[in-house]
Amino acid sequence: MSEKLTIRIDGVECECEKGEYIYDVARRNNIPIPVLCRSDAFSDHRACCRICIVEVEERGKRKVVTSCVYPISQECDVYTKSEKILEERAVILSLLAHRAPDAQRIADMNKAWGREGFERLVTIDNEKCILCGLCVQACDSLGTGAISTVLRGTEKKVDTPFDKPSEFCVGCLSCANVCPTGAIEFSQDEKTRTIWNRTFDLLFCEQCGSLMGTPESARHAVGEGEVPTVCDACRKKKLADEMMQTYRYV
Ligand code: SF4
Ligand code: FES
Repeated sequence: MSEKLTIRIDGVECECEKGEYIYDVARRNNIPIPVLCRSDAFSDHRACCRICIVEVEERGKRKVVTSCVYPISQECDVYTKSEKILEERAVILSLLAHRAPDAQRIADMNKAWGREGFERLVTIDNEKCILCGLCVQACDSLGTGAISTVLRGTEKKVDTPFDKPSEFCVGCLSCANVCPTGAIEFSQDEKTRTIWNRTFDLLFCEQCGSLMGTPESARHAVGEGEVPTVCDACRKKKLADEMMQTYRYV
């Protein structure tokens, strides 16, 4: 059985299990810690933006840690808004705001948590991506591997190989949905969806007409199996109706 501990976050006593991450305990107790590269879609966290830093005091020693991947090992005090944290978070936010000036979420965070005095930093024009890698992680976790980070330094970006339409992309939008800054652009009309320079037909449920994705994403999801022609809700309803019919006659 896992060991129970009590920690204090900003003075609030919080029950937790040994090994839980500070961010998860804070969130469960409605204590806000800003995050960007942390996604509930994955259990292995990249911890690259560092926006979620907090101060931890263990056995009288204080240190700054990354709360989304810092496991609690003993009773401790956590400070999410100490002067040191507010200062360091402001620096991180300024760097991110200069890296991705068109990302509204970063701009909002910078407004709330940022500070003056970073005007000399170089701003990358027309950029929303903070290179957190969540989109690549999403694509890899589906086994599609259509996008990756390419180039280096200030040129570094997420892209398909040689910026060409990728034969591996299935148009599922997982990358766009997981992106914390809305950096992945796509367009959609009544019949098609375009992403990463490739246009896909849309697949609709034969029964209720709801959008099911693209034929390629449906094919990828079932592997060798049969591609569904109805959505999950209609499939479940059909199953329930069939069961009702069966019971009616027994
Ligand atoms: S496109 Fe979005 S998810 Fe992908 S690396 Fe950039 S910010 Fe992260
Ligand atoms: S949210 Fe924790 S490092 Fe990005």
